Amino acid sequence: MAASSEFSVRSSTGSYDVRIGAGQFHEAVASAALVVVDEALLDRVPATSVPVLAVPAGEETKTLAGCESLILRMREAGVRRGDHVVAVGGGVIQDLATFVTDVYMRGLPWSYVPTTLMAMADSCIGGKSSINVGDVKNLVGGIYPPSAVVVDPDFLASLSATARAAGFSEAAKIAFCRGPETFDGYLAAYDGFEGDPDALIDLVLRAKRWFVEIDEHDRKERRLLNFGHTFGHALEVAVDHRISHGLAVAFGVLCATRHPLAASGPQVDRLAAHCRDLIGSAEGVHEALSRFDGGRYERAFRADKKHGADAFHLILPAEGGGVAEVSTPSTPEDWDLILTVTQQTIASLEGPTA
Ligand SMILES: NC(=O)c1ccc[n+]([C@@H]2O[C@H](COP(=O)([O-])OP(=O)(O)OC[C@H]3O[C@@H](n4cnc5c(N)ncnc54)[C@H](O)[C@@H]3O)[C@@H](O)[C@H]2O)c1
Repeated sequence: MAASSEFSVRSSTGSYDVRIGAGQFHEAVASAALVVVDEALLDRVPATSVPVLAVPAGEETKTLAGCESLILRMREAGVRRGDHVVAVGGGVIQDLATFVTDVYMRGLPWSYVPTTLMAMADSCIGGKSSINVGDVKNLVGGIYPPSAVVVDPDFLASLSATARAAGFSEAAKIAFCRGPETFDGYLAAYDGFEGDPDALIDLVLRAKRWFVEIDEHDRKERRLLNFGHTFGHALEVAVDHRISHGLAVAFGVLCATRHPLAASGPQVDRLAAHCRDLIGSAEGVHEALSRFDGGRYERAFRADKKHGADAFHLILPAEGGGVAEVSTPSTPEDWDLILTVTQQTIASLEGPTA
């Protein structure tokens, strides 16, 4: 079946292709020497003569122990240099596969089939791996893009409304960061998503491509995609990880839009309204926010590796559209401001829809 869209992404290790379209998954499996799949999706893998290794999608899978376990299973399955691995799953499987294919016999060719909306519209390009060590999430990793990304929207049907909202949150953030025209296009594609999911995924991935091609190693422009993340990461810790990362990003975007140094205007208002709608469509946010621990929030916020020794580095809506990095001293007054916009955001979400 022909893909509805195809484009390539330049990276330091060469270009790789992105194909979007229903039915693409089956073609990708046909090219595999080994399939690594989220065990919850094992029954979706078409009949194949090559080994299929199922792994659970929990955070404990993307650890050094989880990588070692997969490497040993690959060795047992007879995987050799040059064998093409097809990885199928959400961000956990992506992180695991990126890391393991990078180091197994010093590098195997691989393709990635993302199966959550977050992975389809965001993480599947960029090539990053992030592996948990001890109780520190995403402490080690590298950049090892696949040779192909195959987005098959057939996987969307089984995702919960909450998982979709998390994916849309990251997608909206990317589109907003890219600029006003892209964000308007995103909102139109969001309205038409049920009939044409490919259009939204295509638009957001092309927007993300601009950031990863211009700054693959996160030194300048790609850092702007951390919009919502400093607040969001701290929220995840403060509510004991009872909220998914994508929804925490939507929350973080809302906090950022309330910061006095953030630009305001109709597009920022549309972004905030969209994030509120997404949070409202998800389950469990209200309960998670009721656990908010201010002390843990402050420690996590201050520990963010993006800050300097005496300054907070925030990504905020910019004049004229998009976002910009803004530094403020990390004085007690500046911290009070951060806490105030956070508390205002929590209060604004309290109510029947939150
Ligand atoms: N490498 C990167 O660039 C990058 C970027 C962002 C996030 N991440 C990582 O991604 C992870 C989160 O990934 P995620 O949100 O995609 O989900 P996930 O891989 O953690 O999966 C979440 C749940 O959804 C299930 N699932 C997956 N696909 C499904 C489908 N089509 N239908 C029904 N259920 C399905 C899984 O079995 C699991 O229970 C985190 O560990 C995060 O650190 C990596």
